[in-house]
Amino acid sequence: MELGHIPLEGRVPPSRAPLFLQIHRYLFSLQRETIMAEVALVTVGIEDRIATVTIDRQKKLNALNPEVLEELGVALRSVETDEEVRGVILTGAGEKAFVAGADIGVLSEMDAAAAVEISRQGQGIFDLIERFPKPVLAAVGGYALGGGCELALACHMRLASENARFGLPEVGLGLIPGYGGTVRLARLVGLGRAVQMTLTGEMVDALKAERIGLVGGVVPRDELQVRARDLMGKVIKNGPVAVRMALESVYHALEVESGRALDHEAALFGLLAATDDMREGLNAFLEKRPPRFQGR
Ligand code: CAA
Repeated sequence: MELGHIPLEGRVPPSRAPLFLQIHRYLFSLQRETIMAEVALVTVGIEDRIATVTIDRQKKLNALNPEVLEELGVALRSVETDEEVRGVILTGAGEKAFVAGADIGVLSEMDAAAAVEISRQGQGIFDLIERFPKPVLAAVGGYALGGGCELALACHMRLASENARFGLPEVGLGLIPGYGGTVRLARLVGLGRAVQMTLTGEMVDALKAERIGLVGGVVPRDELQVRARDLMGKVIKNGPVAVRMALESVYHALEVESGRALDHEAALFGLLAATDDMREGLNAFLEKRPPRFQGR
C-alpha cells in the first residue's frame, strides 16, 4: 500500500537525458509499477461513494498472512477517514475464493506466544470492521473458510455468490477459530448450528448459508460485484449519520443488558434529532421529494 503512493512523474522521459538513459528510466518505471502491483495485497477502489476493498493474494486463495492483515488495516483506516466514502464492500480477488483462511504456512511455525499474537492481530482488524462507522458488506465469491469465514462474519452484511462455501475447518487442523468465529457465528446462525459447524468443520454451501441466516442473499457469480454495489447503494442513499447510529445501536445492544441498550438507543435517537439530516429526511417526506442528506 505504501508503494502505491510513489509518484509516477519519473515515468515521463526527461528531455535532456541521453536516449538510452530515457529508455532505461522509462522501462525501470514500468517495472516499478509492475512490482507495485505485485506487492499490493489489498487494493482500494472508490466509485460513487462506495469503497471496494479487495484482498488479492490469489495464488494462496487470498489466505491471510500478517502482511495481508496489516494492509487490510491500512486500507480500512484510509476509507474510514475519507469523507467521500459512505460504504465499503470487502471482497476477494479471483473466481475461487473470498478468503481461504489464515495462512496455514504461518500457523505451522507458531509457538504459543506467537499464536496469541496472530489471533490478536486478526481479532483487532476484524473488530475494526465490526465497529466501523460506515457500513461494510462482504461480497463472498467462492471459499470463505476459517479466518475467511470469520472475516465475513465481522462485516455488517454478507452477500454470497452461488459457488460460495462457508466453514470453520480449524478443528481439523488441531486448532480453534482464532479470529472471532467462536463468538460471532452463534450470533448469526444460533448456538446449535454454530457449534455443529465449529465441531464438524464441515462446509455449508451458499443456499444453506442463506437458509440459516449466515448470508443475506445468494447471486450468480458473475453478478456478485454489481449486486453488492446495488445493495450498498440502497444503504448509502439513507442518512449517513442515521446509518452510523443504527449500526452503533445494534452492535452496542449485543454487549449490554437490554435496559441499557434501550437507554443507549433513546440517547442516539435524541442525538439524531439535532442533525440537519433528520430535518431534511422528515421535510423531504412531507414535501414529497427525495432527501438530500449532507451527513451532518
Ligand atoms: N493458507 C495457506 N495457503 C492456502 C490456504 C491457507 N489457508 N488455503 C489454500 N492455500 C493455498 C494452497 O496451499 C495452494 O497453494 P500451492 O499452490 O502453493 O500448493 C493454493 O492455495 C491453492 O489451494 P489448493 O490447491 O488447496 O486448492 P483446492 O481447490 O484444491 O482446495 C480449499 C481449495 C478447499 C480451499 C483448500 O485450499 C483448503 O482446504 N484450504 C485450507 C482451508 C482452511 O483450512 N482454512 C482454515 C485455516 S486456519 C484459520 O483460519 C485459523 C484462524 O481462525 C485464525
